Amino acid sequence: MTASSTSSASDARYAVIGNPIAHSKSPNIHAAFAAGLGQQIHYDRRLCPLGDFAADLERFRNEGGVGANVTVPFKRDAFAIAREASLRAQQAGAANFLAWRGDHWYCDNTDGAGLVRDIEGNLGFSLKGKRVLLLGAGGAARGVIGPLLLREPTAIVVVNRTQANADAIVAPYLATHPVSALPASDLLAQGQRFDCVINATSASLAGALPLPDGAAVFAPGALAYDMMYGKVPTIFMAWAAQHGAARIADGLGMLVEQAAESYVQWRGVQPVTAPIIARMRAELAAS
Ligand code: ATR
Repeated sequence: MTASSTSSASDARYAVIGNPIAHSKSPNIHAAFAAGLGQQIHYDRRLCPLGDFAADLERFRNEGGVGANVTVPFKRDAFAIAREASLRAQQAGAANFLAWRGDHWYCDNTDGAGLVRDIEGNLGFSLKGKRVLLLGAGGAARGVIGPLLLREPTAIVVVNRTQANADAIVAPYLATHPVSALPASDLLAQGQRFDCVINATSASLAGALPLPDGAAVFAPGALAYDMMYGKVPTIFMAWAAQHGAARIADGLGMLVEQAAESYVQWRGVQPVTAPIIARMRAELAAS
């Protein structure tokens, strides 16, 4: 095999690159996609030394790598290295997807599409005409705000612990879209309610809530969505259940859907995701 192999070759090499990487479920997800489609792919985990992304990507390329998913902490490096970037990667300033295009890397950010597919496709919750509260203003929030806006909600309000970060992620959209960034105290004082509340903070990792405990933000029928997931509901999900959310979801579906969005771009075929999400859910519960 030569380094110029295309993604249609059965020996095309893919990988997820990050640090740490041992926990990544991406190889299992892509193996399941391939099995479901009767395809064969090589998809590995690559532990990349910190500060070594460019060199490691070149090594991967020399080994025949044609596509990579990129995770923490290298998403910005992936965007910087790619000579061609999708609009949504440009909006995010970060990429979780790389594809070799003959003589350069193309990058994309499939996180937002994965989130939208999970919310609208899997959960059957249309975002059009809805009021959305986006909690957080880090890389995760930045990656999804553009694709969320494409679904034509009537408003997206961003609330974040550090107001300056919230201001920064809405700034590119302020003139053209119904977005705003508000301190949580203003939001609560105004009594604003939302049809969809998305937690894109990492607060759950610290056992913290992204809003004051007593906050009343859920409109009737509202969906609470945590981009994180785990064996048990996150603290945000438990809080949402007690504070008026009608439906509650975690980010497992988003994880699988963002992977599917990668797969279809590399391989040209759309994997079936529902049975894989169900199986991963069952495995989580049994773990
Ligand atoms: P990611 O790429 O996962 O978004 P990040 O860029 O570090 O990670 O951003 C983490 C987000 O979670 C930020 O919005 C952060 O708020 P700040 O901008 O104020 O740092 C938010 N966050 C992290 N821990 C939090 C906590 N304990 N309570 C509230 N928000 C928290």
